[in-house]
Amino acid sequence: MPTQIYDRSDLIAMLRYQFEIGIDEALLDFPDPLASPVELSELLATKNMTGDLPAKIPAGPIIGSMLEKATKVAPSQNGRRAASPTLAARPSSHNINDLSKIASLADLRASLAALDVCPLKHTASNLCFADGNPGARVMIIGEVPGRDEDRMGVPFVGFAGQLLDKMLASISLDRESAYLTNMLPWRPPGNRTPTDEEIAMLTPWLFRHVQLANPDVILLLGGAAAKLVLGSQDGILKLRGKWYDTDFGDGVMRPTLASLHPAYLLRSPAQKRLAFDDLLLLARHLNLLVADNKSG
Ligand code: URA
Repeated sequence: MPTQIYDRSDLIAMLRYQFEIGIDEALLDFPDPLASPVELSELLATKNMTGDLPAKIPAGPIIGSMLEKATKVAPSQNGRRAASPTLAARPSSHNINDLSKIASLADLRASLAALDVCPLKHTASNLCFADGNPGARVMIIGEVPGRDEDRMGVPFVGFAGQLLDKMLASISLDRESAYLTNMLPWRPPGNRTPTDEEIAMLTPWLFRHVQLANPDVILLLGGAAAKLVLGSQDGILKLRGKWYDTDFGDGVMRPTLASLHPAYLLRSPAQKRLAFDDLLLLARHLNLLVADNKSG
């Protein structure tokens, strides 16, 4: 196939066309911890990009007003945002010891909302902090927000969340008697897997979240959450179905159970049996089963 050669004005026209149809951010296909998302308005605002519009794509009213706005954006270094600091250079305020100064869930949420150094914050639509009852005995930790969660800023509202609600109902739990969060509070762009650096940066917030909510038991959903919290390389099928006494950084050993993620169960319904076994373990621990209540 012959290679299509575009000249500079073709490329600018294509960029402006994307701007016109509402694409307002340029992302890489792969995570780059040094790159911040670039807004097309910023790219178009750079000196070399504001030449005459190529004849092929006339400047309609939308393009016109956006370019007008774009040229008013104060161009940072060479029209790009300053790169995020490298991990080594990131402030040490991401240390769990410093987060211990945060004394309430509301403050923890606010500090996450202000965490500009995390690249995920800039591509997500909303911070997805928690749902349910922060005073509940059970805290559920999922993996990362999906598209629906990102849109609404609430964990587990999509199809996986609907299945989770049914699973909880099977042992008489609901969002009044459980508190839900995720390993990461922002959806990675395009649902890509979060990088080790992103996970490492945000884990102290997760641990402080557990300390402040102080549940009696924790339920981890999915392999990524289980591996992270239990510090294991084993797969979820090996980790699930057992209680682990886990220290979330405050010296308190909290009973923690890992189980299968509802999104996985939607793809592999035959595994629901295992998930139900885990739910029974949880129900027994909480003394939710009628038989256990009678005998206890
Ligand atoms: N999967 C998760 O792990 N968490 C959500 O909030 C949604 C889907």
